[in-house]
Amino acid sequence: MTKQDHVRIFDTTMRDGEQSPGAAMTMADKIEIARQLDSMGVDIIEAGFPAASNGDFEAVRAVGTVLENAVLCGLSRAGPKDIERCAEAIKSAKRFRIHTFISTSPIHRKHKLNMEAHQVLDAVTASVTLARNFTDDVEWSAEDATRTERDFLKRCVEAAIRAGATTINIPDTVGYSFPDEYRELFRDLIESVPGADKAIFSAHCHNDLGLAVANSIAAVQGGARQIECAVNGLGERAGNAALEEIVMAFRVRGADLPFQTNIDSPQLMRVSQTVARVTGFPVQFNKAIVGKNAFSHESGIHQDGMLKHTETYEIMRPEDVGQGATSLVMGKLSGRHAFKKKLEELGYTLADNALNDAFQRFKELCDRKRHVFDEDIVALVDDQIAHGDDAIQVSRLRVVAGTEGPQTAEIDLTINGEAVWRTARGNGPVDAIFNAIKEAAPHEADLDLYQVHAVTEGTDAQAIVSVRLSAGGRSASARASDADTLVASARAYVAALNRLNALSGGRISAQHSAA
Ligand code: KIV
Ligand code: ZN
Repeated sequence: MTKQDHVRIFDTTMRDGEQSPGAAMTMADKIEIARQLDSMGVDIIEAGFPAASNGDFEAVRAVGTVLENAVLCGLSRAGPKDIERCAEAIKSAKRFRIHTFISTSPIHRKHKLNMEAHQVLDAVTASVTLARNFTDDVEWSAEDATRTERDFLKRCVEAAIRAGATTINIPDTVGYSFPDEYRELFRDLIESVPGADKAIFSAHCHNDLGLAVANSIAAVQGGARQIECAVNGLGERAGNAALEEIVMAFRVRGADLPFQTNIDSPQLMRVSQTVARVTGFPVQFNKAIVGKNAFSHESGIHQDGMLKHTETYEIMRPEDVGQGATSLVMGKLSGRHAFKKKLEELGYTLADNALNDAFQRFKELCDRKRHVFDEDIVALVDDQIAHGDDAIQVSRLRVVAGTEGPQTAEIDLTINGEAVWRTARGNGPVDAIFNAIKEAAPHEADLDLYQVHAVTEGTDAQAIVSVRLSAGGRSASARASDADTLVASARAYVAALNRLNALSGGRISAQHSAA
């Protein structure tokens, strides 16, 4: 692969993706995602914004220690403190990059930075020059580039390259561009900025008009050789370009897009599910590439066509993105050994204790559900990995529901190892459960989101419940699964509360009053 036909995949799931309200990730979450991105072939991993908080600093540093091949990248504003803090965090990795940015558009200069154009230009030179003292790999971004006067943008890009930036990122920060405009912008910059041949140009697109992936591809046609994207399209507001969609566009339309990425596409589904689990953001069913329905065919005409020839309705094979056909092989009579083997096939290696717990839960599920699909096992194990160590856990739940009312929930929680029992009424069973949890573990958090999905089809399907809570300016999402929707609801609420507590240094709850 030459420098010209390799498109670098720069993943920002853990930085821009984490900027989605409620998607905050713990250090352990970031390490798990980073390992998977690295193994999948992502070239550059932006793991956070080290100057933003000590937690972000530590997470970026920790991610650096586990990367085998990918370059670790940290984001920083243009000031020396940010850049120095970033340099300190990223040096844990074998290969590292400082990504420094400043807004260039008139609207940002005036209302956000309160800086004149010449001051911004000076800051570009100063920030890139300082960053180069710590590493040869420096990326510079023009925030809100697509709404910047073209001449001024060119002067900034030229200054950044002259100061030593090796990657120039031209973000469509507000998701405003059309593909033709964005393609032409890259052509123009690459053709006319002195020194442009010394840098790799990069696209960074937001999805406010649903054009992030189309714009990223257009940028490559205009000469960009790096795309910044996020798993499941996570990111600020409507999100960033979805990594999995970009990778498969290059793979499926290789004849028209003669560029290659390093991504091992069969790993896409697994990473997507991990990101959905740790953030608590479910993947919509009809999401391209990694949605549950992306390879399902419902209508008779389509099913008939598929049976005659799969290419009638499929432009890629499910296995190319890691979506295996639903298989029904595990059941009541399956032993521990077969279960362990199935987990390995699904990409999980569990230690003995965790395996025993998972096996027990699997057996319980077999008693409650006629057919146990691979998706059920994935949901069950993901749930265990996500919540096994939580400080607050649901031990027992009993709910009275129905037309008669009052709907009442009785809950047993274990809070830091201590059992707490409470009962409460509510406006419906879910409300009663959440009230009972509030009684047992008093806290101030508001419920921002409550969503239920079924893992598979049928009335005995497991439910995945997502909950988002917020308090004191922070928010946290979590999800949980169970064959009983009400149990899953209780566990998802408690899981979100645990995350919110962890993110707030334990200030939200975990105090409980005596019965
Ligand atoms: O959208 C944007 O402009 C960004 C920059 C910080 C790269 O995320
Ligand atoms: Zn962004």
